[in-house]
Amino acid sequence: MSKILVKSLANQKEATQKVENPVRIVDDGKVTPRLLGFGKDKLFYIRTYGCQANIRDEEIMAGYLNRIGMKRTINAEEADLAIINTCAVRENAEAKIYGEIGSFKANYERNKNFMLVIAGCVMEENGVAQELMATYSWISLIIGTHDVPNLLPLLDECLKSKKNIINVRSFAGEVVENMPSMRISPYKAYVNISYGCDKFCTYCIVPYTRGRERSRKMEDILKECQELVNDGYKEITLLGQNVNSYGLDFKDGTTFAHLLEAVAKTGIPQLKFLTSYPSQFSDEMIEIMAKYPNIVHWLHFPVQSGSTNVLSKMGRRYSREEYVEIARKIKAKMPDIGLTTDIIVGFPKETEEDFLDTLSLCKEIEYSAAFTFIYSPRSGTPAARMEQVPEEIQHERFDRLKAVIEDSTAKHSASMVGKIYDILVDGPSKKDENILSGYATNGKLVNFPGPKYLTGCIVKVKMVESHVYYIKGELAEDPIIAKARDVAYLISLDPVVKEYQRLDETLRNSDEIKALGDKLVLAKKNMVLSKGSENYPSAKKDYEDVLNEIKNHPLLNNRDNLSSEVEDLLITIRNILK
Ligand code: SAH
Ligand code: SF4
Ligand code: F3S
Repeated sequence: MSKILVKSLANQKEATQKVENPVRIVDDGKVTPRLLGFGKDKLFYIRTYGCQANIRDEEIMAGYLNRIGMKRTINAEEADLAIINTCAVRENAEAKIYGEIGSFKANYERNKNFMLVIAGCVMEENGVAQELMATYSWISLIIGTHDVPNLLPLLDECLKSKKNIINVRSFAGEVVENMPSMRISPYKAYVNISYGCDKFCTYCIVPYTRGRERSRKMEDILKECQELVNDGYKEITLLGQNVNSYGLDFKDGTTFAHLLEAVAKTGIPQLKFLTSYPSQFSDEMIEIMAKYPNIVHWLHFPVQSGSTNVLSKMGRRYSREEYVEIARKIKAKMPDIGLTTDIIVGFPKETEEDFLDTLSLCKEIEYSAAFTFIYSPRSGTPAARMEQVPEEIQHERFDRLKAVIEDSTAKHSASMVGKIYDILVDGPSKKDENILSGYATNGKLVNFPGPKYLTGCIVKVKMVESHVYYIKGELAEDPIIAKARDVAYLISLDPVVKEYQRLDETLRNSDEIKALGDKLVLAKKNMVLSKGSENYPSAKKDYEDVLNEIKNHPLLNNRDNLSSEVEDLLITIRNILK
């Protein structure tokens, strides 16, 4: 009897079918006793390749494993369950997984209950899952990108049936909410706003691996963002393969600009988004970005090529001129913007002249950084069937492009020297624990000396020495002041403090309370003026009545009760700080 159970197989063609109204499924949080028994005191390890969408999937899968009592380990050798989360965007990304799968054979030999799960975009390619399952007997489960929310039921089925399961549904008809997650950072969070992509650029495999585009409901996204703000997160990055088409599938006038504005209003200190499709970047977007100070002035704006000819073969829906015009508008409104990009060199039929157009565009735009890639044919995509550019030419162009990019990156870094930026501190650098690192609000990496306790704080840093890929800075404020500001911010998020502030505000604006105050002043005046006269006892009683009225007023009472709770909180914090 075969040990392999095939539940569903990847189908790149099926993946491209549009589902008009994807169903919204709410995760019910249930787990079976069998899974709880399996998870108890066990360790999991996840290795993720690829983009932020895969990183977010890792956080969600970790959330599911945590739900059955498992803990994360960063040491692959001690894992009882490991997940390899694969990326298919270029051949070299894909090639890495085979060695990684091989390395887990030792885990299986040590522990026959060890489970290896393969997930991610490569699994959505036709034929790959079957081949892997047939070659590596220690793989327990293979899932596609659409089955991340089904990780636990599928693991349960593996345990119950004692079979190795392939479950890759290439079906983009669901949006799942309420998924658990173990976020990698306690300060920076990724939030999915849409899944999949409808653009079908001719070189790209993403629409086949992630399926057609579907947006999450605005209220679900806002709820997640608000929870992150309340939990003290400092930065949110909204994620979609093409954020600018967010909400268009609702056909009710919703746009990404509306969502971005609503998220900015949650008060998250820093807000970013990835990735923008240039020709869909609207004037409204430029307005919103410029209007809200918490939307950082960094924009990843992938051009792919500077030649209109190549752009058209790539299926990108803009010309060089249109791209340059939108970039010009953005820079005019936000001169301090850091623009970054993705560029593919050696796309099929790219001529020397086309390539020179890419070089001249880079010189014209002056990117603050760029990710450059050699074109990699992806099976099932139209460009893979086009006439390819010889490898030597691709490599030669790649090196020339790199030199131009380094030039503009260095120029951009140099232009920042002397200025002060807000930096969200990621923590001490790996090489030297007295050096902190983080990103400036225009996306540039900054290293500066400072105490470790500033990790997770937003601090003011002056740029002093520019290098190509980073800048050396120095703190532009006393670190204790920066830390105190951070503590004050976190205290202000406490529900008791928030309620106290809200009541205080209501009181200050209440006509009723104002009238009571005036009444008290008048009664006191009458009492003082009538001193020694026969009216005094009744004036005194009037005054005391007003005092009582104030004392027993429900609004004032609430505030007094809360203020003692706030005091308790402050005393606790003072004791912690001691
Ligand atoms: N949705 C995003 C990200 C797509 S993948 C976007 O549209 O920008 C990230 C980058 O990988 C792309 O921008 C592109 O520059 C690069 N890429 C995608 N497919 C590729 C391929 N077949 N060969 C080389 N680079 C590729
Ligand atoms: Fe790929 Fe193009 Fe979609 Fe980006 S916009 S994910 S490059 S198809
Ligand atoms: Fe890779 Fe899939 Fe992202 S192919 S780049 S992990 S969407």
